[in-house]
Amino acid sequence: MENKTILVTGGAGFLGSHFVRKALADGASRLINVDALTYAGDTRRLADLEGDPRYEFVEQDIAAPAGIERVFDSTKPDAVVHYAADTHVTRSESDPERFYRTNVEGTRALLDAAVATGVERFLHISTDEVYGSILEGAFKEVDKIEGDVQASSPYAKSKSLGDDLALSYSDSLDVVVARPTNAFGPWQFPEKALPRWITRALRGENLLVWGDGLYIRQWLYAEDFADAIALLLEKGERGEVYNVGPTHEPEIANIDLVRWIVSYLGLDPNRIEMTAYDRPDHDRRYAVDSTRLTDLGWLPGEVWVQFATTIDWYSNNRAWWESHVAEAESIYTDSASTA
Ligand SMILES: NC(=O)c1ccc[n+]([C@@H]2O[C@H](COP(=O)([O-])OP(=O)(O)OC[C@H]3O[C@@H](n4cnc5c(N)ncnc54)[C@H](O)[C@@H]3O)[C@@H](O)[C@H]2O)c1
Repeated sequence: MENKTILVTGGAGFLGSHFVRKALADGASRLINVDALTYAGDTRRLADLEGDPRYEFVEQDIAAPAGIERVFDSTKPDAVVHYAADTHVTRSESDPERFYRTNVEGTRALLDAAVATGVERFLHISTDEVYGSILEGAFKEVDKIEGDVQASSPYAKSKSLGDDLALSYSDSLDVVVARPTNAFGPWQFPEKALPRWITRALRGENLLVWGDGLYIRQWLYAEDFADAIALLLEKGERGEVYNVGPTHEPEIANIDLVRWIVSYLGLDPNRIEMTAYDRPDHDRRYAVDSTRLTDLGWLPGEVWVQFATTIDWYSNNRAWWESHVAEAESIYTDSASTA
């Protein structure tokens, strides 16, 4: 990234903001953050970069091709890292069109602009949800079937089509696709499962666990993911896909994680509430094999230390997440008090 102009989409969001900070720390000469500032975008995540002459913010919808062309023409990026997306599964259940517009048409507008301006590398951020659920073993990169048949929610289906679209440009563009697992860390919007448990715990509310709580995810720390993306920008192979997920021994079920949060904060275990509500088609277990990436030298950190760091961060940054609680909670009808 040293001495490169990098255009990041969705850099005002959770994972994008971690990467923007890392790219500048690693020596990018210019960083353009393109973000529409939806409810999920928040420039306060990058307030520490104010005054850095290498950093520029452009408010722009990625699914508006003319505006995107203008941004590419005027900035001529060397590399694009595409994070921007509509990302919340529960929201996708009620407004799927918005997800297809952003996650498929927005991706297309970026790919076209990247081809037209001769971008050297386009790193597309996909998700492990494109594979769907797997009860045993782990998906390898070749296991994705073209189309959206494996994906469950409108979110996952739109990401699956965006993933195919990005790879279909490989002849005319140097495209690399990353498929990360369930991410967590500082600055995550409190609508997502882990920050919702943490912030509800800190607000004195019950921690709501859907279904039987035996859902399994590979919890990926935001900074480990930013490291993976930096590595792939440099060493990823054109037209290739890379799973990005740590392996936990033993695996972590939602209920184990919630019990651990309650114990870490010294709360009464009765604050855990098993809900009658469960997500429609809730995928039981996600698992990917990240050997292709670890072979390049990626080494994730210790997940339970990262969970503790994350809880401490939410404890110390109440003003930020409190300003988002009303929006985050407005989409849920899962607790006994709101059902
Ligand atoms: N967070 C996770 O657990 C996770 C896991 C796997 C993959 N991913 C993928 O990583 C990427 C980032 O996820 P996140 O959790 O940081 O998301 P986020 O919701 O925190 O941030 C998304 C950002 O995209 C912006 N955005 C949305 N629509 C836009 C549009 N039309 N034009 C321009 N900007 C727009 C938002 O303003 C926001 O800043 C996404 O592509 C997501 O699918 C996330």
